[in-house]
Amino acid sequence: MTGAGERVVVLDDLSTGTAARLGPDVPFVRGSALDTGLVERVLAEHSVTGVVHLAAHKQVGESVARPTRYYRDNVGGLADLLDAVAGAGVQRFLFSSSAAVYGNPDVDLITEDTPCAPVNPYGETKLAGEWLVRAAGRAHGFATTCLRYFNVAGATAPELADTGVFNVVPMVFDRLTRDEAPRIFGADYDTPDGTCIRDYIHVADLADAHLAAARRLSAPDTVGDLTVNIGRGEGVSVRELVTLIGEVTGDTRPAVVEDRRPGDAPRAVASAELAARELGWKARQGVRDMVDSAWRGWQLHHS
Ligand SMILES: NC(=O)c1ccc[n+]([C@@H]2O[C@H](COP(=O)([O-])OP(=O)(O)OC[C@H]3O[C@@H](n4cnc5c(N)ncnc54)[C@H](O)[C@@H]3O)[C@@H](O)[C@H]2O)c1
Repeated sequence: MTGAGERVVVLDDLSTGTAARLGPDVPFVRGSALDTGLVERVLAEHSVTGVVHLAAHKQVGESVARPTRYYRDNVGGLADLLDAVAGAGVQRFLFSSSAAVYGNPDVDLITEDTPCAPVNPYGETKLAGEWLVRAAGRAHGFATTCLRYFNVAGATAPELADTGVFNVVPMVFDRLTRDEAPRIFGADYDTPDGTCIRDYIHVADLADAHLAAARRLSAPDTVGDLTVNIGRGEGVSVRELVTLIGEVTGDTRPAVVEDRRPGDAPRAVASAELAARELGWKARQGVRDMVDSAWRGWQLHHS
């Protein structure tokens, strides 16, 4: 955002984030988005006109084990935040949603009209969050946008790479670094190579999508709500991804196939048409860019 000339203030409790990743000129407040008094002060002191709400718990497995924590913070906390936003007269609200709202639809391309049927509490909180955001926007007269991210990967610079091992790309890197073969969960799906197909999106493209959405929200004639998929519209199988990771890392040992994981959809690929139409945004980076950049980041953080 700052690179694009926008002024921002960042509120983050650093539960998973790192303050050193912010540019030196970005005002930073350490604290929780669940702390309503603090949020109200920050909105007022910085004359905030729009909010991009990224903070959330996002681990599917943990959400199954601790659903009350997910509902309390991702939904209840969001309700408090929206009250503060409405009270401060903020006119625009951008919400990080997820492809997890769809669950496992049996369609070739997931459009925004595909029925939402999340299959875990994390996805449920994202869907409830969307409902809440749209309802609050309608009630208080601010414009809202929900971005449903598909599978985020890659790094904009090695030092900014994700250090968590929660998604497939770092999970494969982790196995290779431990001198172990990558794992594929299920190779008997009804897909061309039997492995699950996903839509991967480079984090730099995702950032551009936020900028496009923020700009659209800032236009004087923007009212109401928009909910849009953020993906490339192209499917890549887990086996294709593992092969690509082998090429990039130079470690081409064959993957081991294990049992399917419960809840994994055979295919989850976005229709990217609405994003192109409404945001004028389209992903530019391919899966090799994601793996290349993620690998440079992994090497930096694990050398
Ligand atoms: N990474 C993905 O693949 C993906 C996919 C779909 C949706 N999303 C959504 O995107 C958003 C960001 O995900 P991410 O991968 O960047 O996660 P992340 O954990 O890397 O970043 C979340 C940030 O929010 C901060 N945070 C968490 N709880 C907070 C709180 N109560 N108050 C203030 N700050 C808080 C963390 O410190 C961190 O800086 C989440 O809402 C997530 O559900 C992510």
